[in-house]
Amino acid sequence: MSILVTGGAGFIGSNTCISLIDSGHSVIVADNFCNSDPQVIENIQKITQAKVVKYKVDITDESQVSSIFENHSIEGVIHFAGYKSVGESVVEPVAYYHNNLMSTIAVAKSCLEYGVKKLIFSSSATVYGENVSPLVEDMHLHQTTNPYGETKAMSERILKDISYANPHLSIALLRYFNPVGAHISGLIGEAPNGIPNNLMPYVTKTAKGELEYLNVFGNDYPTVDGTGVRDYIHVTDLAEGHVAALQNIEKGAHVYNLGTGRGTSVLELVTTFEEVNKINIPYKIVDRRPGDIATCYADVTKAKKELGWEAKRDIRDMCRDSWRFEQNLHRFVKA
Ligand code: WQD
Repeated sequence: MSILVTGGAGFIGSNTCISLIDSGHSVIVADNFCNSDPQVIENIQKITQAKVVKYKVDITDESQVSSIFENHSIEGVIHFAGYKSVGESVVEPVAYYHNNLMSTIAVAKSCLEYGVKKLIFSSSATVYGENVSPLVEDMHLHQTTNPYGETKAMSERILKDISYANPHLSIALLRYFNPVGAHISGLIGEAPNGIPNNLMPYVTKTAKGELEYLNVFGNDYPTVDGTGVRDYIHVTDLAEGHVAALQNIEKGAHVYNLGTGRGTSVLELVTTFEEVNKINIPYKIVDRRPGDIATCYADVTKAKKELGWEAKRDIRDMCRDSWRFEQNLHRFVKA
C-alpha cells in the first residue's frame, strides 16, 4: 500500500518508514523538519534502497496536507507529526494545542475527503494520567499533568468521534510507553536538538563524555531500587507494531498499548547499559523531577490478541543499539 507518514523524519516515524518498506509498502513523508533533519530521509533510502517521496509542509495547514492526497493515491496514513516535550508544553500550551490538534484535524479531514480508510495515530501512555500499572486500554482516563498529554487525549477523542460518524474508517490509537533504542544499522535513532528530554539520550551522551554525569531523579520511590520504573520499548518493535496495526486494524476506532509489559528502573537500565557496552556511566542521585510517577508499564494482551504483535527485543538490545547510534552521531550537541 502507499502510506503517508506525517512526522516521518522523526525518531519513531523514520523507523516506522523502514518497517513499512521492509513489509512491501511505499512511503510518502510529510514533515516540517522543526525537530528532525531531512538527512534522515536519505538514511531511510540508504538502508532500504527504496525511494521515499518527501514533502516539507506545515501539517496544520489543511491545503498543504490535502495537496499531498491530491497528488498521490494514498491508501493509509500514520500520523506522528506533533510536538512531544512534556516540559515544553507546560510553558507553551497554545503552540502545543494548536499544532497537535490542528494537525490531527487536517489529516483526518483529508482522509475523509479522499476516501482513505486506514488511519494510525501516535498516542501516548501519558493519557492514562495517574492510573495504576499495568495500564489497560479500557481504563478510565484521568486528567494528565501537562498540555502535551492533554493534546494526545483530545486527539484520541476527536478521532473516536470521527470514527463514530464515519463507520467505514479503521482507526488505531497507539499508546506508546517509553520508546528507546535505534535502528540496528546505527544510522537512525533518537537525536534530540539541544538538551535531551528523555533518559536514554542522557545516558548515551554521558557515555560519550558530552555530559559529566547522569542525574538520577530520585531514589526514594516505592520501586525495586527506589528509582523510577518504566516500560521501555525498542523503537523497531514500536515500528513493527504500526505495520501490524495498519495490516490488521478493523473498522471503528481501537486503542492499543505498545509496550513490553515489563518495567525497568533507571538504575537497572544504567547497569544494563554499562554491562552491554562495557562503559561506565557516572551518576548522581538528585531530587525527584516534578510530575514524575514511580511506576508505569503496559498490559500488552490486546495488541497481541487483535494485531498479532508483541515486542521481541529486550533492554540489552535497546542499550546496545542506542550506543551504536550515539557513536555514529557526528553532530556535537553542547549540553
Ligand atoms: C524515564 C525515567 C525519570 C532523565 C516521557 C514522556 C512521555 C513519553 C515518554 C511521549 C523517569 C528518569 C530521566 C534523566 C532520570 N513521551 N530520568 N534522569 O518521563 O517516563 O516519559 O517520555 O509520549 O509522554 O513523559 O520518560 O525518559 O523522561 O524518564 O532519572 O536525566 O528516567 O525520572 O523515572 P518519562 P523519561
